Amino acid sequence: MRPRLPRTAGPLRLAALCVLLSHSAACFGLTGREPLALLPAQLSAESPPGKAHLKQCEQLTLTRRQKRLCRREPGLAETLRESVRISLLECRYQFRNERWNCSLDGRSSLLKRGFKETAFLLAVSSAALSHALAKACSSGRMERCTCDDSPDLQHREAWQWGICGDNLKYSTKFLKNFLGQKRVSKDLRARVDSHNTNVGIWAVKSGLKTTCKCHGVSGSCAVRTCWKQLSSFHDTGRLLKFKFDSAVRVLSITNSATGEPELAGPRRPGLTPRPTDLVYLEDSPSFCRPSRYSPGTGGRPCAKDTSCHSLCCGRGYNTALRHTTLSCHCQVRWCCHVECQTCLREEEVYTCKH
Ligand SMILES: *[C@@H]1O[C@H](CO)[C@@H](O)[C@H](O)[C@H]1NC(C)=O
Repeated sequence: MRPRLPRTAGPLRLAALCVLLSHSAACFGLTGREPLALLPAQLSAESPPGKAHLKQCEQLTLTRRQKRLCRREPGLAETLRESVRISLLECRYQFRNERWNCSLDGRSSLLKRGFKETAFLLAVSSAALSHALAKACSSGRMERCTCDDSPDLQHREAWQWGICGDNLKYSTKFLKNFLGQKRVSKDLRARVDSHNTNVGIWAVKSGLKTTCKCHGVSGSCAVRTCWKQLSSFHDTGRLLKFKFDSAVRVLSITNSATGEPELAGPRRPGLTPRPTDLVYLEDSPSFCRPSRYSPGTGGRPCAKDTSCHSLCCGRGYNTALRHTTLSCHCQVRWCCHVECQTCLREEEVYTCKH
């Protein structure tokens, strides 16, 4: 059975993208090379209480409508930044062994193309924002939404027990409103972006689990309360990486019945890609050499017997010795006191040649 997708969000506007992937220079007026920790994060301490978020909203590149939403919702600016943080961490982690390692360099060029990597970036960004919003609701960081309040009785009970379910329903609605819904665009790129954005939202939704807890005498489970809980964002990242590896290349065909353009996979003529497939339009560059899309793989650490060959693109690798110290030969003296020696460890490290 096909998983059902939430109704389609309109194509992302670049401004929204800037929020989602906020490290590009165009978005923040920074060089684009700052670690995320340097993005304006510690404002709340200096600003008058209750007003801190206004300043944060100003610093994000948003459309006018998004700014208004940001000012109205004190927890939003923080949540946007949190989503950027987790999307970047997850992207780097999932691509740590790939030639493109999700480095910040070249990101804005990548986003203008229709590569698989572009598809992943969009999906992981919308997934992160959806996840961060749902978490912000359940942790009480956003005033306008609270716990998952699905009408079914168990969630209400959980709420009464002080357990707050992750509110994905609210966050999805908010996210779509925030990104701005438009009529389905005829522009192929916009359709592809919108599709991949929705794959990200779906990936978060598919990780929503019902968790239960027993109450009653010595775990008799006479009373059980259940609530909705999102899986960790790592799981979402893993799912999206899997979708990246099996992404479907598409082209635009005209639906003979409706006359409307739609996406089709060339290997399955007549079949539109599934709503859970990441889709892309063009083959990626190799990412081997520095280009406007990536810094290349020169200098990348690799594993001698496994990743070096493909990661270094046949250029070979350098071997260096690294010395590290560690505690060793530890012994317990008396009770509770441990004495260790310091050992020197020598290991070989490999990095791709330039
Ligand atoms: C990605 O690779 C580049 C090029 O070797 C390197 O400079 C950069 O630090 C890497 N980034 C991450 C996040 O690992």
